[in-house]
Amino acid sequence: MKIFIVGLGIIGASYAEGLHRNGHKIYAYNRSERPIIEGIKLGFIESDNSIEQLSSTDLVILALYPKYNIEFVKKHLELFKPGQIVTDVSGTKVWMMNELEKILPQGISYTSHHPMAGKETSGFDSRDEKMFRNANFIIVTGKRSLKRDQDALRLIANNLKFGKITVVQAKIHDELIAFTSQLTHVIAVALMQSDQLKETKEATGDSFRDLTRIAKINEVMWSELFLENKDELVHKINDFTHELQHVKELILLEDKESLMKYLKEAKEKRKDFDIH
Ligand SMILES: NC(=O)c1ccc[n+]([C@@H]2O[C@H](COP(=O)([O-])OP(=O)(O)OC[C@H]3O[C@@H](n4cnc5c(N)ncnc54)[C@H](OP(=O)(O)O)[C@@H]3O)[C@@H](O)[C@H]2O)c1
Repeated sequence: MKIFIVGLGIIGASYAEGLHRNGHKIYAYNRSERPIIEGIKLGFIESDNSIEQLSSTDLVILALYPKYNIEFVKKHLELFKPGQIVTDVSGTKVWMMNELEKILPQGISYTSHHPMAGKETSGFDSRDEKMFRNANFIIVTGKRSLKRDQDALRLIANNLKFGKITVVQAKIHDELIAFTSQLTHVIAVALMQSDQLKETKEATGDSFRDLTRIAKINEVMWSELFLENKDELVHKINDFTHELQHVKELILLEDKESLMKYLKEAKEKRKDFDIH
């Protein structure tokens, strides 16, 4: 396929490199020029790259933060052509998909997706197509989705060696992500912020480092994603606070039997995640 990628941050650039390796022709846009120049030099962006090439491609992948995806489409509407498929990789869907469904020209289908992979670092230089291996791939259908979009997205997922592919609608996606991705980042940063001791660094083990790895957060991206999914995220924070309160009470009451039951239940739930 001829593919146009909007944004060569960590996700866009990793897609570009991996999809080029699988025989696709990649064109791209990036706000700053260096990633485009580097991509051409490294051979994964076509040498005749230009923003006008968007019109000649089969698939457009929007790989900016949600509000910049919308800005880009609004600004370059005339470049989109009937018959094209549009997708995006954003971390939240309801608000952005609604906006894009309204503004994309007629004759263009649009199905979103979310690669469930990332790193603590961001930007073009952090690209690494290997991070997608065996990661979950969520396809998000909407009002402008056609069956052919899913075929294209499944091809991309297979090319980049993703693992399980799930298809959901935007509302379910945002609820799932509020729990599996956003709440986990909130917990990691809150854990770091609750540190009161100056010797902590010398006393950490694997458990603390594992739990706080994602506190090395891209604050620009995550603050945007949290606010775009505010209602779902606040709901999940409330559920979590309730559970914390419950464990605290069991500890205060020295109710060892209930505490053990609670811990065992959580262990079984977590072990179940390892069964494919
Ligand atoms: N990182 C993850 O873990 C992860 C995982 C799954 C999905 N996603 C989604 O992937 C998308 C991209 O995230 P990323 O992590 O790849 O981002 P990133 O590495 O931080 O890169 C940001 C990209 O956005 C561009 N950008 C930033 N501000 C801009 C502005 N004001 N106008 C135009 N372009 C601007 C940057 O251009 P410059 O190069 O010029 O700065 C760069 O291309 C997001 O929607 C995110 O939700 C991320």
